Amino acid sequence: MIFVYVLAGLFLTLAALWILIPALYGLPSVPTRHGRIRAALRLADLKAGEAFFDLGCGDGRTLVIAAREFGASATGIEIGPVQCLVSWMNAARNGVRSRVRVKRGNFYRADVRAADVVFVYATTRELSRLQEHLASQLRDGARVITVGSNFPDWEPAQIDRENLIFLYVMPVQTYR
Ligand SMILES: C[S@@+](CC[C@H](N)C(=O)[O-])C[C@H]1O[C@@H](n2cnc3c(N)ncnc32)[C@H](O)[C@@H]1O
Repeated sequence: MIFVYVLAGLFLTLAALWILIPALYGLPSVPTRHGRIRAALRLADLKAGEAFFDLGCGDGRTLVIAAREFGASATGIEIGPVQCLVSWMNAARNGVRSRVRVKRGNFYRADVRAADVVFVYATTRELSRLQEHLASQLRDGARVITVGSNFPDWEPAQIDRENLIFLYVMPVQTYR
């Protein structure tokens, strides 16, 4: 019986951490549908061998699709420790552990200089805070894709209106 209580306690602790830590940073852990991720990676023209980053990788589904279906080398930056663990397990379960890295950290301070493609699923509030950081780090030709929201000051190179996906190519044109 005690075993059941320990297991239930562990499960509740992990579930609480899954919800509470992202909530502290203002962006909840809501996954992107698989079809939308594929559409985003196609829009970004992600190629085999390219460096793909997901800022806030959640359960790691974008990393698995980028590595398994597009042959990319995928890195997730994630604030939630439980999400990091789940991403890592997801990559291992899908046989792409060698091409997926998960780093626990804050994406506002992440080193993304190596990125060819950056994926972000966040609200306009987070994107407006990320603009300067990304502009200062990404090399010319790097692509950034956002789903659901757009960067307030950046002009997208392309928009997939059906899936609400925005593509930006560095250096970006700004509206100002
Ligand atoms: C909307 S979910 C997107 C998950 C995943 N990218 C997807 O598309 O399925 C946002 C993720 O960002 C993480 N997150 C929130 N704030 C963060 C921060 N400042 N730095 C790193 N990760 C953060 C959350 O824990 C959550 O997993």
